[in-house]
Amino acid sequence: MTPVKVGLLGLGTVGSGTATVLKRNAEEIARRAGRGIEIDFVSTSKSELPSGLGLANSRISADPFDIVNDPEISIVVELYGGDEPAKSLVLQAIDNGKHVVTANKALIAKYGNEIFAKAQEKGVIVAFEAAVAGGIPIIKSLREGLSANKINWLAGIINGTGNFILTEMRDKGRDFEDVLKEAQALGYAEADPTFDVEGVDAGHKLSILSSIAFGIPLQFEKTYMEGISMISRDDVNYAAELGYNIKHLGIARRTEKGIEQRVHPTLIPKRQLIANVDGVMNAVLVQGDAVGPTLHYGAGAGGEPTASAVVADIIDITRALTSDPENRVPHLAFQADALSDTPI
Ligand code: HSE
Repeated sequence: MTPVKVGLLGLGTVGSGTATVLKRNAEEIARRAGRGIEIDFVSTSKSELPSGLGLANSRISADPFDIVNDPEISIVVELYGGDEPAKSLVLQAIDNGKHVVTANKALIAKYGNEIFAKAQEKGVIVAFEAAVAGGIPIIKSLREGLSANKINWLAGIINGTGNFILTEMRDKGRDFEDVLKEAQALGYAEADPTFDVEGVDAGHKLSILSSIAFGIPLQFEKTYMEGISMISRDDVNYAAELGYNIKHLGIARRTEKGIEQRVHPTLIPKRQLIANVDGVMNAVLVQGDAVGPTLHYGAGAGGEPTASAVVADIIDITRALTSDPENRVPHLAFQADALSDTPI
């Protein structure tokens, strides 16, 4: 079977991570997806693509609309972030009958209701696992693993940059601005880092989680948002002396009046697991009526962790594209020679 052709919009930290993971794990990914996956077209302002990413045969264009309008492309991967041109590109891709994978939380939180309505009308998939909590498969967990539960509440550290700043301030006595610069250099922060430190990025992500957990439309505009920009080293140190860590949490819960959505700094006793989630790591606690509490932990930002979620969505869509039941990949897609790796 010919490989499925992917168009990549954006070759920054996550775009390069996506190409790297697809290249490095090509064999396993093809087995799990049921066919190969090829990045056929990349939007970039450069005249050539960097070497080492497996993109030697990929086409390039400075105009991303060339990709969403290209008849060869089945899956468009949007990694620009922000409102425009991402929104127009995604809507155009859907109009053209293409499936979309995006890591863009602002786009989903603000325009998701419109985007999903259009996707449903056109019969295409819009997947966005990478939009929340980087590499943690929290969207799939809520939708699939926890789908039997009535969710009562969820709470999480869902901004890696902010958690990295708070941790470095506490453990190394570093300056807020200095750590933020490092987070930017490491590719953790948003293009506009005020989104990270004023709670907007966490607000986007919380409204997405809340919509899935409680089965409500996306309501980013109803989220209370407060960031960490007013937290000083003294605050962090005094809290630690009193037995607490300051963590920036997103909390969504059922109340008698409806679903409450809020993001803000919180004092958490150090004995709690979530108080010890440090650095760029994220964690989401989900309380289901049947399962009880579950804790989902992993890297919340960065190239390859986020690419892990992007590529998982590409694999899911590729699997769904294989409508022929005989060619559908079984859930336990082991290699013929896998017995040599059997535990002894
Ligand atoms: N700026 C985001 C963060 C990137 O730091 O969590 C991942 O969504």
